[in-house]
Amino acid sequence: MTIPTTALQTAAERFGTPLYVYDAAELDAALARVRSAFGTARVYYAMKANPNLTLLRRLNAAGVGFECVSSGELARAEAVGASGERILVNGPAKSEAEYLTGARLGATFIVDREEEVPLLPPHSRALVRVNPALAVSTHDHLATGAAGSKFGVTLAQAPRVLDALRDAGHTALGLHVHIGSAIRDAHDFTAAFGRLSEMREQTGPLAVLDAGGGWGLDADLHGIAREARAAASAFGAELWVEPGRYLVARAGTLLTRVVGTKRTGRNFCLVDAGMTELLRPMLYGAEHPVTPLWDGGEVETWDIAGPACESGDLLARDISMPQPTRGALVAIGEAGAYGAAMSGTYLTRSRPAEALYEPGREGGADWTVIRHRETPQDVWAAEI
Ligand code: LLP
Repeated sequence: MTIPTTALQTAAERFGTPLYVYDAAELDAALARVRSAFGTARVYYAMKANPNLTLLRRLNAAGVGFECVSSGELARAEAVGASGERILVNGPAKSEAEYLTGARLGATFIVDREEEVPLLPPHSRALVRVNPALAVSTHDHLATGAAGSKFGVTLAQAPRVLDALRDAGHTALGLHVHIGSAIRDAHDFTAAFGRLSEMREQTGPLAVLDAGGGWGLDADLHGIAREARAAASAFGAELWVEPGRYLVARAGTLLTRVVGTKRTGRNFCLVDAGMTELLRPMLYGAEHPVTPLWDGGEVETWDIAGPACESGDLLARDISMPQPTRGALVAIGEAGAYGAAMSGTYLTRSRPAEALYEPGREGGADWTVIRHRETPQDVWAAEI
């Protein structure tokens, strides 16, 4: 946790809970770490991790591009002033609208299957996504480079798809690989980049190798960068990367208040956030660091449970902490990526407010609200 506890308490009082908070210093530090490891590689932020416009504006101002996978994400990229070479259009099932918007913005397309070539707007710039067919050390839902996943073309197909692009009058920039997200073992990257390099004979030199994202938060970025650079140089290519989680996860914390406790065989600490605010524990068995913002009392083992009427609605299990008291705050860490982004309105719950912590900002307050808490009326606004 990077934000002082007193500041967290202030934010919870002022903006209510559940609340997502982000530390601007850690956002900047994460980008600096990426740039220090990857040097001159072009960075495209996978905005699916956290598409908040304030965060996008900061990254845009820092010269970062965006990887977009929907019309909505393209609209966000455009809204913050990105265009042309700063935008990638990706996804396994792009819509007509996404091709058209991508073309209007001058974006680069990531081609996911041979059948997509005739669908591209005329004279597109394109990369071909390759699936290296590897066992990947992450949750099955997140292993995009596994043989059975729906992503990319096979190693055998890739040279043909590059040719098909050229024959159709497009600019075939090169290859793209993204083997998955929250990857635990960095050797997976080595293996994937290695498989791509072996294709050099069939593809000839290429302008770009896009090595995707997927880096775990404790990943050795310098090691991954070294391998990615080696693969790019095998093709004589420029290196591009697409980090999502790494750029925003550690900056974000979900603040939630204790509603009460119950002891029914297990000890439950009931809080005002749950699967609707942070789905990752339920969906992927993800473990987020939990920090109780109170002291004292006997330490016992607690499950942190949310308000939804489903027994899977747990934020964490087996957390050692002192006796919770109603109204006390719990901070759930590493929540800046795929936290707010995946929050939902199931049970007509309003998505939480989000606030940015930036102390010492010239003439400004320490906290800025960067997303208002929804009202029930916001939630049902599109209904007739
Ligand atoms: N590039 C491509 C083509 C991707 O599909 C993704 C993520 C990224 C880059 C960024 O990956 P990252 O660096 O964030 O690992 N909802 C899941 C994560 C899904 C990631 C999907 N693709 C979660 O909560 O863990």
